[in-house]
Amino acid sequence: MATNDDADTKRSEILALIPDYFREAFPSRPFIPGETPVPVSGKVFDCEDVASLVEASLDFWLTAGRFADRFEAEFARWVAVEHAFLVNSGSSANLLALAVLTSRALGTRALSPGDEVITVAAGFPTTVNPIYQHGLTPVYVDVELGTYNASYESILEAVSPKTKAIFLAHTLGNPFEAERIAAYAREHSIWLVEDCCDALGSELTGKYVGTFGDISTFSFYPAHHITTGEGGAVLTNSPELAGLIQSYRDWGRDCCCKPGQDNRCGRRFSLKFGELPEGYDHKYVYSEIGYNLKATDMQAAVGLSQLKKLDGFIKTRRDNFKYLLDRLRGLGDKLLLPRAATDSNPSWFGFPIAIKPETGLNREDLLRYLESKKIGTRLLFGSNLARQPAYMGKNHRVAGGLKNTDYVMNNVFWVGVYPGLSNEMLDFIVTSIESRLNRT
Ligand SMILES: Cc1ncc(COP(=O)(O)O)c(C=O)c1O
Repeated sequence: MATNDDADTKRSEILALIPDYFREAFPSRPFIPGETPVPVSGKVFDCEDVASLVEASLDFWLTAGRFADRFEAEFARWVAVEHAFLVNSGSSANLLALAVLTSRALGTRALSPGDEVITVAAGFPTTVNPIYQHGLTPVYVDVELGTYNASYESILEAVSPKTKAIFLAHTLGNPFEAERIAAYAREHSIWLVEDCCDALGSELTGKYVGTFGDISTFSFYPAHHITTGEGGAVLTNSPELAGLIQSYRDWGRDCCCKPGQDNRCGRRFSLKFGELPEGYDHKYVYSEIGYNLKATDMQAAVGLSQLKKLDGFIKTRRDNFKYLLDRLRGLGDKLLLPRAATDSNPSWFGFPIAIKPETGLNREDLLRYLESKKIGTRLLFGSNLARQPAYMGKNHRVAGGLKNTDYVMNNVFWVGVYPGLSNEMLDFIVTSIESRLNRT
């Protein structure tokens, strides 16, 4: 009969094969301009990531377990926030963040249908969708050109007696004025949720984004700063919110046992809840209207090995951003180039560029040209969500007009800065933009 020692030996043999497998399966290839794709983003991984994934697979635990526990602890420590909860996407993280703020446990501070949440329309849909999904009203404020974030002043002007929360993303890694907005929100009992899905490692006044709001969210989709495949996280410093996040993530249950665990509190059959009989099994007591948004150990295992490389990834993103900025400055008469927020050190997600409308140049013409050279481009996500088909006719309020948001919709696009891009690729992006724009 096989012993555990035999299984351990076989496990070691399997893991020892991975470096060779990795070399054969994922060889590096030379860059051929015009033929090799230059994507906007992508996963950057090595044989340690593959080994970590295989290790978790060999456990065959399949749900959240030892790797998820470690990832949550290490990720929380990295961002410098008390509690982190791994979930199955950044969109789920946003859904969860807003869902917990509707809990009756929060008393008068709970969000209820009709309450307003201040956000922007120039962004990703699943920052705004949870607002609708909970019967709340999004209040759109405009963004500034160059930073593509809402200003502190515009947020204050949007506040009404119905404002209960502010939910903003750090656009493409560029921090919004989270410190000032958080101070205002605290003073006025308004919740602040930071969507950091595109901004892991971005700093504002020397602190990481995700440390300012009541709750912060992250995405680990392959486009992002680290990847777990699909994946995300919700972070908070508040023990009360942490309890709610865990409950809403795990079916809304009252019990805090982890998958495979029983009777963690030691009072599984001795409590009384609602109108349930005394001693009703605590594992099946539901104190919230929850979801199941958990991720698996296989995802967490990849996250753990990616986390070791995060500092290097961030440095390369910054270097790549600077490289593009320096090289594109010469086109300043035609292009509006990005600007880092005051007191910030962004961990850039992408390099946003606006084609100045007065030049008469056509954005789609340039994007088609770049795509023909296999240079990936993206728009600023939904650009003006209020004009997207899904949002037409939906209840919302606009505070102060969306002039710049429309400018973003018509003129802005972004190219990549992710660590998989070499200087040769960045040069090719620059020379291709130059040659198309200087054509006439
Ligand atoms: C700002 C922002 N929030 C949320 C998300 C959603 O993350 P996910 O794709 O992991 O659901 C994204 C996706 O890129 C995003 O850019």
